[in-house]
Amino acid sequence: MTISKQPSFTTIAIDGGAATGKSSTARGLAARLCYLHVDTGSHYRALTLLCQRHGFAPDDVEGIQNLLANNPLGTEVDLAACDAKITVDGSVPADSDLRSDAVNASVSKYAAQPAVREALKEYQRGQKAVAIAKGFGGLVMEGRDIGSVIFPDAELKIFLEADEATRAARRAKDGQTDAIAERDRMDSTRKTAPLTCPKGAVRVDNSRMSLAEVIEHIAAMVKQ
Ligand code: DC
Repeated sequence: MTISKQPSFTTIAIDGGAATGKSSTARGLAARLCYLHVDTGSHYRALTLLCQRHGFAPDDVEGIQNLLANNPLGTEVDLAACDAKITVDGSVPADSDLRSDAVNASVSKYAAQPAVREALKEYQRGQKAVAIAKGFGGLVMEGRDIGSVIFPDAELKIFLEADEATRAARRAKDGQTDAIAERDRMDSTRKTAPLTCPKGAVRVDNSRMSLAEVIEHIAAMVKQ
């Protein structure tokens, strides 16, 4: 009998509050390791946009369930950028739409809706199969509940933190209007999959670190 050795696959979960540097860190780390990067915040933003375009309020459970049942979610992978993007209504939504003031203002309300979270749970878990099918050696998924709910068995879990002033300065630099503290309050206190430091996660406070330092710091943990 021959036993074929399965190539190893590494899942890295990066969680944290708004403007803690998750996206830049996760994207840079994925490119450094040649892993697939998945930004789950953009998934919630895409579904918020979909609901808003079709006129469904965050508390319209039945309307949202019907809408999601009739709008299959897809994935577009940019191999060169090691990045996966969600498609809704058949295409990848523009970044300017995903990060508009209207979406910033209500994404936490849609993200608190169990129907929305349920639709995304299987989709997000399925990103591991997408990464394997495309030949990546791992996955770097960022969000609020990745280490706690989506991939509780991830090989490495990181909880990113930064002080208030640093986070506000980052959003201001991006030219965005975003009520960071209010979104964190809503994300941390909702009933389903609240923002929390997952069990077994390593806390990384990046207030006084450059992006390159944070990426190297986490890459060193992966090597270990
Ligand atoms: O990371 P972000 O700011 O783009 O996320 C937008 C919103 O999506 C955030 O306010 C909370 C929600 N979110 C979530 O509930 N769970 C995730 N895994 C990712 C984001």
